[in-house]
Amino acid sequence: MSQSQTATLKLKTIPTSSEIEQIIRKSATLSIGNDGNKETTPYGPDPEGLDILPEYSRQRLIASGIDISKGYPERPDQSQIPIFKDEVFQIRDDVYPYVERGKNADPEKKALFGAATEVINLTERVGTEIVGLQLEDLTDQQKDELALLIAERVVVFFRDQKLSHQAQYKLGEYYGRVEKHAQTIQVPGLPGATVIWLDYRKKNGMPLTFHNANWGNWDVLRYGAAGNQVWHTDLVHEKQPAGYTHLHLDTIPDVGGDTIWSSGYGAYDKLSDELKKFLDGKQAIFTSAHRYLDRENPLNGPSPIERTHPLVRTHPATGWKSLYVNRGMTKRIIGLNPVESDLILNYLFDVYEKNADIQVRFQWKTKPGYGTSAIWDNRISQHRNVFDHEGTKERHGTRVTALAEIPFFDPKSVSQREALGLSVE
Ligand code: SIN
Repeated sequence: MSQSQTATLKLKTIPTSSEIEQIIRKSATLSIGNDGNKETTPYGPDPEGLDILPEYSRQRLIASGIDISKGYPERPDQSQIPIFKDEVFQIRDDVYPYVERGKNADPEKKALFGAATEVINLTERVGTEIVGLQLEDLTDQQKDELALLIAERVVVFFRDQKLSHQAQYKLGEYYGRVEKHAQTIQVPGLPGATVIWLDYRKKNGMPLTFHNANWGNWDVLRYGAAGNQVWHTDLVHEKQPAGYTHLHLDTIPDVGGDTIWSSGYGAYDKLSDELKKFLDGKQAIFTSAHRYLDRENPLNGPSPIERTHPLVRTHPATGWKSLYVNRGMTKRIIGLNPVESDLILNYLFDVYEKNADIQVRFQWKTKPGYGTSAIWDNRISQHRNVFDHEGTKERHGTRVTALAEIPFFDPKSVSQREALGLSVE
């Protein structure tokens, strides 16, 4: 056989992208487009999940009328998980007409604060707890004021909540387009209500231990993101990334399992005026957490999809500038060479992660038989979970994420401290 005949024969044996797709979809172990946890294979309601479902989470599901007779949680349908990058870009490729609920809200928030029994600021500028209100009962005016409060304070908490899954979903819908994740576990019959349950992911093979839980905070690309322990911002690869995001925990350890948020307004204000000027108006490349194949070159293997957004963005309700980066998913500053970009980005990640005075750490504790809600704004923050209970205590919740505007930078916008007349010295 001649050399050219051998080459032709070899070429013919390379599978086409549709053959590769079939191999992946039929395989129980190959996982393109998911995060490598077995939670996505096989799919549908998981009968084994019921064995470890915490009691109060079960009661909440039943009270909401969710059918868990076939199992819990609902695992994503493998046939629907995108394998190729072009499939991901097709999801939510339209422009969603986002309405910023906080924009015209009463700056004094009289309807919200007037109905609460207490309003507690947990730190100077990040995190507020509202006492004496049920999220299910908020009027539209109170929801708008709550949006503005979140936009100002980054995250707002409500303990002692009786909250159905549907009411959580509806509140998300009020704030924007609810993101329906193709890869994550969901509440059965309510796609968009994502289940946050590390015990389940651990049971299905996620390697998360006391030893390795925080490695990703040094280098997430090398050591991987163990659960939600790595500082991150949700869904930065979307055309219209996440805005108001609501995590309701219905099973909470008596001690441990806290969550920490860091403010993008604060991170921006930590920078020198010269660095601020340099970064204002710059764009960066953001990547997805999940990886996909390039249809033209499937044998190159999976890699994240990329999206370009401003590095400093203006919040449409407050008009304040916020630093929009995170260690795992901001890949490169456009216009800089890779060495310069890495140096600056690593500094910016550190600013976000290491300044305790722009952060709040929240203990979720609530009355027995109730849940606690945290609603934060992903446009102006990063967050991470703390795995100090090491999986020895049950923790379970549901998260609904409202997608917001196409990120923008308004050169006329100001920083939080400028707006509040606060000196940095
Ligand atoms: C998340 O990263 O969205 C969840 C945080 C947590 O479970 O504390």
